[in-house]
Amino acid sequence: MLRGLALLLLCEASLFTAVTPVKVCGRPPEVENAQLEDERRVYEAGEEVFYTCLPGYAIAAGSRKSICTLQGTWSQSKLKCKPKSCSVPGPLANGRIRFASIHFKSTINFTCDEGYVLHGEERSHCQHDGTWSPPLPVCQAVTCGLPGIPQYGRMIHTKMFSDNTTQFGDTVRYDCSPPYVLFGSEIGTCQANGNWTEMPECRVVTCPYPPKIQNGFMQFAVMREHGYQESIKYGCNPEYFLDGPSEIRCEKTGSWSVLPVCRASCIVGIQRGRIFYNAKKIWIEDLPQKKVQHSDHVAFYCKNKEKNCGYPVVTQCFDGTLKIPECFEEPSAMTYKFQSKKLPSEIQMC
Ligand SMILES: *[C@@H]1O[C@H](CO)[C@@H](O)[C@H](O)[C@H]1NC(C)=O
Ligand SMILES: *[C@@H]1O[C@H](CO)[C@@H](O)[C@H](O)[C@H]1NC(C)=O
Ligand SMILES: *[C@@H]1O[C@H](CO)[C@@H](O)[C@H](O)[C@H]1NC(C)=O
Repeated sequence: MLRGLALLLLCEASLFTAVTPVKVCGRPPEVENAQLEDERRVYEAGEEVFYTCLPGYAIAAGSRKSICTLQGTWSQSKLKCKPKSCSVPGPLANGRIRFASIHFKSTINFTCDEGYVLHGEERSHCQHDGTWSPPLPVCQAVTCGLPGIPQYGRMIHTKMFSDNTTQFGDTVRYDCSPPYVLFGSEIGTCQANGNWTEMPECRVVTCPYPPKIQNGFMQFAVMREHGYQESIKYGCNPEYFLDGPSEIRCEKTGSWSVLPVCRASCIVGIQRGRIFYNAKKIWIEDLPQKKVQHSDHVAFYCKNKEKNCGYPVVTQCFDGTLKIPECFEEPSAMTYKFQSKKLPSEIQMC
């Protein structure tokens, strides 16, 4: 009986080995950024497994399913799981967001513009649910206190400063009560460092007694000190020509602007001859008092002896001096009287 059972068992065993050519599959292959729904060590032919993308990843290609084939290998699922994207971050008012990517797990950095301070975190990460965490920070303007008011002056602001605070970029205008004059910047600004720009000063400006000028005079001037921007008019004596501005002004520096000069007229220093003056050719005796004005041009005639022709040489009156060209030869009284047709001014021009 016992022997018979043993035999039977042996038969069973030999039968089992003969009838199981069936292959099994081992662990399914790993897929990047994905996991198996039901993981075991051994699978039988025909069994299916399913992959799912890890949180933060989504299917980009392939199939979730893989089958254990009769050959004991897994079918290719070709599954690809790609990171999900967060929304494009921002904008961050008065700041900048720096990022290389907005995919799951990427980091973005925040900075605030000059004059703004970051409240919150400097960086944020893209979460698996597509949100940024921690949330975006806020860039708050630097605050300044109230600006000072210059002595003898005032401050004008265009907007109300609530709670006695001002913000980066706020501006005010200053002015001084006359006769005080503003020195420095008329505009004040709340700066990025939390300080106002330097306040201007209101000062009194006086210019000394107006100066006298040679060969000229002041019109209606009072000999006293003058204040900022007061002006004095000047004129020249007869025969003198005003060179420069006719009016001077008391400047911020406490001195007068540039003075004019009275320039003398010139005497055309020849006895005999013909000149070109004021667009006309005239004999010297026809020029009243032989005078020309400062800065006027006068042409004298010279002779080219080789070619026997005449040519004009121009000269200019400057403050009483009129230089006669060297080539000019004054004719003798006889020549002038009886042979005037032969003068360089009368013969053919070169
Ligand atoms: C964010 O800041 C970190 C640390 O300063 C730096 O390593 C990283 O490159 C920055 N990222 C970007 C996108 O600018
Ligand atoms: C602003 O400052 C002025 C003078 O220092 C003070 O009288 C006023 O109460 C302040 N206002 C507020 C809202 O703080
Ligand atoms: C702001 O002004 C104060 C007083 O003039 C000065 O002591 C301080 O250094 C200034 N702050 C900065 C950041 O320049």
